[in-house]
Amino acid sequence: MHQDVEKVLVSLEAIKQKISELGSVISSDYTGKNLLVVGILKGAMVFMSDLIRSLSVDVQIDFMAVSSYGASSQSTGVVRILKDLEQTIEGKHVLIVEDIVDTGLTLNYLQEILKARGPASVRICTLLDKPSRREVDVAIDYNGFSIPDEFVVGYGLDYNEKYRNLPEIYILKKEVYAKK
Ligand code: PRP
Ligand code: MN
Ligand code: MG
Repeated sequence: MHQDVEKVLVSLEAIKQKISELGSVISSDYTGKNLLVVGILKGAMVFMSDLIRSLSVDVQIDFMAVSSYGASSQSTGVVRILKDLEQTIEGKHVLIVEDIVDTGLTLNYLQEILKARGPASVRICTLLDKPSRREVDVAIDYNGFSIPDEFVVGYGLDYNEKYRNLPEIYILKKEVYAKK
């Protein structure tokens, strides 16, 4: 394990099992529909790459990048689009994929923006949910794990852009983020 992490919160085995379950449910829900999977960079990229390979329906993929946190562990409430979709989504079934829903500000805002573009539907799939931190309502359609209010990294999730490449989801040691 990396020296900066306290312990594993969600193991790779548990992640794989959950993704296979999510993949079955999502595949059955979207059978016969034109599904566009939209990953929210950068955190969602690892989860999304595994999730789409668990699907048995045809998909298109695209990405958006937004900024909410900057280099701090606290939410500023400001959500800015840094990269938009490369296509129109009119008539398409959009599935937004996130690594984690925390305050809900990012997804609340993104969902509004995408719904205004006339898609056939917009749903949300997140690997992790931290319900105790919610500031605005977000209806999550597919959730992997509800987790306690701990600072988690790995499997795409960062602290100051670090630890995204770690294979599992870990609780970061407090001294790592208390230093700043
Ligand atoms: C994190 C995470 C979600 C968002 C959740 O992204 O990946 O996108 O924050 O927080 P919220 O529910 O409070 O809005 P971040 O802004 O850190 O960017 P990143 O994905 O590039 O790490
Ligand atoms: Mn993110
Ligand atoms: Mg981040």
